[in-house]
Amino acid sequence: MANCAAISTIIGKEDIVVSDELNHASIIDAIRLSQVKNKFIYKHLDISDLESKIKEATKLSKTPKSDGSTPRILIVTDGVFSMDGDLAPLPEIVWLAKEYGALTMVDDAHGEGVLGEGGRGIVDHYGLHGHVDIEVGTLSKAFSVIGGFITGRKTLIDYYKKNARQYLFSNALTIPDTAALDEAVKILEESDELVKKLWENTNYIKDRFKNLGFNTGNSKTPITPVMLGSEDVARDFSTKLFELNVFATPIVYPMVAKDAARVRVIPSAAHSREDLNLGISAFEKIGKEMGIIK
Ligand SMILES: Cc1ncc(COP(=O)(O)O)c(C=O)c1O
Repeated sequence: MANCAAISTIIGKEDIVVSDELNHASIIDAIRLSQVKNKFIYKHLDISDLESKIKEATKLSKTPKSDGSTPRILIVTDGVFSMDGDLAPLPEIVWLAKEYGALTMVDDAHGEGVLGEGGRGIVDHYGLHGHVDIEVGTLSKAFSVIGGFITGRKTLIDYYKKNARQYLFSNALTIPDTAALDEAVKILEESDELVKKLWENTNYIKDRFKNLGFNTGNSKTPITPVMLGSEDVARDFSTKLFELNVFATPIVYPMVAKDAARVRVIPSAAHSREDLNLGISAFEKIGKEMGIIK
């Protein structure tokens, strides 16, 4: 809903959106809801394709809208891609946006509490404070509650507060969610211990998976896809893991492309080394049984 509000409030039929092909479904739906006619989808993380799409967008933006104003161009990307764990090249995106006069929006659902100093997110990770126009976040990942939010310049946020239908026509967070969120933010502000532990756990499982011979794609974050290809294999793998007391869901079409199925693993700061070893040995056993690793 936050993505719907962020996009459809400021982008209309005659504006232009430029979007990474692997953006989250909620961004895709938000673009659809805006009814924008001119959509450019660039190849995943591909800056030269992005630039050529922005050039086309810029040409189109020379034709004024029916009210005489100039069409807006919005470049939108996930910060951390939710199915692959790879990172948007945000500095290059921001640089291109500035060069061509486009707006930028990043959905940092999986960067909050994970990337940057003390988990401040992808903008902090890249030192881009003040350079990204719209940041959308969720409270449902690192903050462990539920709800979404938009941050940006005060004028923009004031505009959203007056015009975003998803904000105007829905209820506020519940009191328990708000209290738990407050506490989660306090914990993150007081110490970076949990974020450090999360990265220790992340590096540990990534090394172990790689040494065992699993393909974990291009992940740079705790989201660690164990690539399996066929959907049946991914479903089977997940069922067998469950029988060994390991809960890791299969990610299949339409969440990812056909034949790019995987089991997605995300360690948390709460996992002990014992937990991780239990999980990894289950992956090893099943991987060998199913002939995925030697
Ligand atoms: C990139 C991204 N954006 C948005 C969402 C939606 O967040 P929520 O489940 O809190 O609505 C998710 C995850 O589900 C996500 O991975």
